[in-house]
Amino acid sequence: MARWRGAAVRRPPREQWSGQVGFILSAIGSAVGLGNIWRFPGVAYENGGGAFLIPYIVALLTAGIPILFLDYAIGHRFRGSAPLSLRRLGGKPLEALGWFQVAIAFVISLYYTAVVAWALSYFLFSFDLRWGDDPAGFLQGDYLQVSDPGISMQFVPGVLIPLVLVWILTLAVLSAGVAKGLERANVVFLPLLVVAFLVLVVRALFLEGAGVGLNALFTPDFAALADPNVWLAAYSQIFFSLSIAFGIMITYASYRQRRANLTGPGLVVAFANSSFEILAGIGVFATLGFFAVQQGVAVGELEGLTGVGLSFVTFPAIVSQMPGGPLFGALFFGSLTLAGFTSLISVLQVVSAGVQEKFGLSRVKATLGIGGIAAVLSVLLFSTTTGLLALDVVDNWANNIGIVASAVLTTVLVIWVLRKGPELQYHLNAVSTFRVGRAWVLLVGVLVPVLLGYMVLSRVVTLLVEGYAGYPAGYLGVFGWGTIGLILAAAVVLTVLPWRSHTEPFTAWPPYVRDSRSPARSPEPEGGRR
Ligand code: ALA
Repeated sequence: MARWRGAAVRRPPREQWSGQVGFILSAIGSAVGLGNIWRFPGVAYENGGGAFLIPYIVALLTAGIPILFLDYAIGHRFRGSAPLSLRRLGGKPLEALGWFQVAIAFVISLYYTAVVAWALSYFLFSFDLRWGDDPAGFLQGDYLQVSDPGISMQFVPGVLIPLVLVWILTLAVLSAGVAKGLERANVVFLPLLVVAFLVLVVRALFLEGAGVGLNALFTPDFAALADPNVWLAAYSQIFFSLSIAFGIMITYASYRQRRANLTGPGLVVAFANSSFEILAGIGVFATLGFFAVQQGVAVGELEGLTGVGLSFVTFPAIVSQMPGGPLFGALFFGSLTLAGFTSLISVLQVVSAGVQEKFGLSRVKATLGIGGIAAVLSVLLFSTTTGLLALDVVDNWANNIGIVASAVLTTVLVIWVLRKGPELQYHLNAVSTFRVGRAWVLLVGVLVPVLLGYMVLSRVVTLLVEGYAGYPAGYLGVFGWGTIGLILAAAVVLTVLPWRSHTEPFTAWPPYVRDSRSPARSPEPEGGRR
């Protein structure tokens, strides 16, 4: 039984989702994001095409879903933001891990907002095909006004205005609270996204050359399966995409009612996210097939099949060529904006919840305070002429090092050091319909730390030895390693600062009896005592 006594300010009752459906929609809204539309199709194509589905599904089953359950169990059992839940679970060292996750979410929010802002701009640009005949030149020149790597104080108004707008909307949603803000935004935007994206995919499938694109995506290159980097790519993709290991699912699960089915909805969220991801692959590659046929080249010969290039250069070029292009462009960039926004609010909720609880602040004060700081940093870093380059480097380090390291640290500390696997298994089974067995403890306790530990170390070595994408070493030192350094420093400082809230001793529920294999379900109704 975990007990922990803090100091000072009494906290108001914990916010809750209105019910299971609201939670599931919000968790899917968080998972389905830029990672699905912006990242997955290119990553799959680069890593073996159809054969990538094998490591992808293995990664989903062996690490994605098990860590999703781990996050749910921690958040629901210890009912707090990442730092509070982890502190209740394992004291100060674990609180530091919680702040490490919050700091990663903070960093991701800075540039994630920028990409959502670009998508919003491009949604509007679609109507008059503003990028003209040269989408690459338009993106780098007219729109982002990219300069050499460095730190620029030259703001780009075309980015600054939508970026500020996205920040205002995000902070407004967060200030309205869990049920009235986050859940409502998801309930409205997620169905809209699904409809818009389905229309887009159906339209793409009827384009001339769609089959060529799908062949390019799904023709398996089985030799790729022998390459460890392909497996690493699959695991990283699943982590970012499922919103796991950086605080989001701990925080979201903490707002569930006491008697809340965790694993069943977890499976729904995981499979919905992956279905959307594969749907995005189909839509994007059917469209690329059309473009390749128009150009008279193979899909593999097209440039810009991943990341920023795919969404903001290749897609605009295609939109300009197809009949009904403006509508298609609006659907694509509208979907990207909606998917990004519903994920963005979850990323920032991690930060706001952590700050609220530690410093005893009201929701609005915490959101506007920390959100305001994030907004200023985001504007300074990403609405200037060096925004694109900073984004590329910060994203690579925060994701591939930060999130993966956080997953490894969580499993090592929670399962190996504190030996909380059986208690969390017990908790999941006490409240859920789908029961997890010892296999779950083995996956999160052995496979994940060993495999992902190897993965993150090999990435660190590669980045140290080879650098990244030809950027100057000093630049990588500041924006790449510097980001990780700041995340670590923030974790230490925030852990050392005294708690300003929470007076009652905390008792985890249901009481855990070591070696009990069959937890009793609580007789209490949903939404019972806290
Ligand atoms: N899960 C979110 C995404 O895929 C963060 O973009």
